[in-house]
Order: sequence, then C-alpha cells, then structure tokens
Amino acid sequence: MNIVIIGGSRGIGRAAAVELAKDGHRLLLVGRNPESLEKAKAGLPDSTETFTADITDAAAIDQLAAYCEERFAPDGLILNAAAFANHATGRSVLQPTPDELGAILDANVVAHYRIVRRLFPLLQKSGRGRIVLIGSTAGIRQDKGGIYGISKWALRSFAYNLREEAKAYGVGVSLVNPGGTFTERRQKQSADDKHLLETSDLGIVIATVFRLSPQAVIEQLDIRPLTGDTY
Ligand SMILES: NC(=O)c1ccc[n+]([C@@H]2O[C@H](COP(=O)([O-])OP(=O)(O)OC[C@H]3O[C@@H](n4cnc5c(N)ncnc54)[C@H](OP(=O)(O)O)[C@@H]3O)[C@@H](O)[C@H]2O)c1
Repeated sequence: MNIVIIGGSRGIGRAAAVELAKDGHRLLLVGRNPESLEKAKAGLPDSTETFTADITDAAAIDQLAAYCEERFAPDGLILNAAAFANHATGRSVLQPTPDELGAILDANVVAHYRIVRRLFPLLQKSGRGRIVLIGSTAGIRQDKGGIYGISKWALRSFAYNLREEAKAYGVGVSLVNPGGTFTERRQKQSADDKHLLETSDLGIVIATVFRLSPQAVIEQLDIRPLTGDTY
C-alpha cells in the first residue's frame, strides 16, 4: 500500500514508518523540517519519499494533495502530527489564552480535517482506503488535559463521525489513543525507565491497522503504560 504519514519524521510517526516499511508498504513522510525528514529516511527503504509542509498552512495541504494526485496515490493516511500546550500552563484551561487554544485546535483538528477533505477522493479510489488518527488518552480522560485535551476530544469526535460517513465509500477509520510515550520531548531518566510506552509499541499498533483483512477495521484502540497515566 501507499501510506502518507503526516508527522513522519520523528517520534510515533517515525516508529510507524519503521513497522510499515517492514510490511513492504511504500511511504510518504510529511513534516515541516526538510533536514529531519531526510534524517528520518535513514534505515527506511529507498522507495520512501518525503514532502515538506506545515499542515497549518492550507496552501501547503493543497500542494501535498497535488503531489499525491500526480505521484503517490495513497491507500492509507496517518494523521499523527500535533501541537502541544505550553509546558507551564499545559494542564490548565483557565491560564492559556484563546489564541493559544485557537492555534492548538488549528494544528490538531482543523489541519487534519482539511487534509482528509483533500485526500479523501484519492483514498476512496484506492478501494481499500484507511485513515488512522492519532489521538491521546488526554482525549478520553475528563481531567488535566488542558487545551491539548480539548483538541484531542474534538479529534475523537471527528474520528467517530468520519468513520460512520467514510464506510459507505469503503474507507476504514481507526483512532489510536496513546498514553505517555518516550520521544525526544519525553526522554528516559535511565536505561531501564519503563514509566512510558516505547514509540515502537505505537508503531506496531499502527501497522496492525494495515495488516487486517479488507473487511476488518480497528475502530478505536487505547494504549497506556502498564502503570497507567503519569498525570
Ligand atoms: N509522545 C507522547 O507522550 C504522546 C502521548 C499521547 C499522544 N501523542 C500523540 O502522538 C502523536 C505524535 O506525538 P509525538 O510525541 O511522536 O510527536 P513529535 O515527536 O513531536 O513528532 C511530531 C511529528 O509531527 C511533525 N509536525 C508537527 N507539527 C507539524 C505541522 N504543523 N506540520 C507538519 N508536520 C508537523 C513533526 O515534524 P516537524 O516538527 O519537522 O514538523 C514530527 O514529525 C501526536 O498526535 C500526539 O498528540 C503523543
């Protein structure tokens, strides 16, 4: 399959690329930083392509759609990129400004909505289209999510509504909600630190969506560290 990974240059998106490549899929990695994208290609098959785009820029999404129309007819779309709340006020919904809320909704919801609208006709053509949205356990919990949590709740609603509508066109929609995961932002304290998920755990879960029979869809999968959320 041809699979577009929005936010494929590091973290969970890169881990998904590693697992999907093992299954022989052809990948298009999307991110803002061309050097990171180039670095991310190391160790992946030569067929891996990259596309530099800031998904909060509608014109960049149009360019991505044009690229896909011409060169990369997608069967799969992984919506993984996200903006995160300011660390100091991250758990609050009283301290961040409305503009901060607007920016996080723009990146985590509106941008993905726009991408789906632009790429859906191509996914429909595939005949076995799949969309995977990466949410968060902050999009399930009712506390301490802050404005990031608001955006992930909205994304979850988008995923449910999209699944219902997309199935008539043969496109399956999966929502994966990770708990805390070791990434560049969340480093290990020691080699045997196990309080967060590994990015490879998420890579395996995401790749599994594409391993099932065409008539099967993982609707929602919540995955947390064994010891639970860290907040
Ligand atoms: N890590 C966790 O603990 C955790 C927990 C729960 C849920 N999640 C969710 O998992 C997903 C991935 O998280 P992560 O921790 O792996 O993130 P990350 O390490 O920050 O990676 C984010 C990826 O998205 C790209 N990106 C970010 N903003 C973008 C934009 N505006 N346009 C295009 N690309 C953009 C980044 O590349 P550039 O910066 O070069 O653009 C990078 O490839 C997110 O949806 C996040 O909410 C993560």
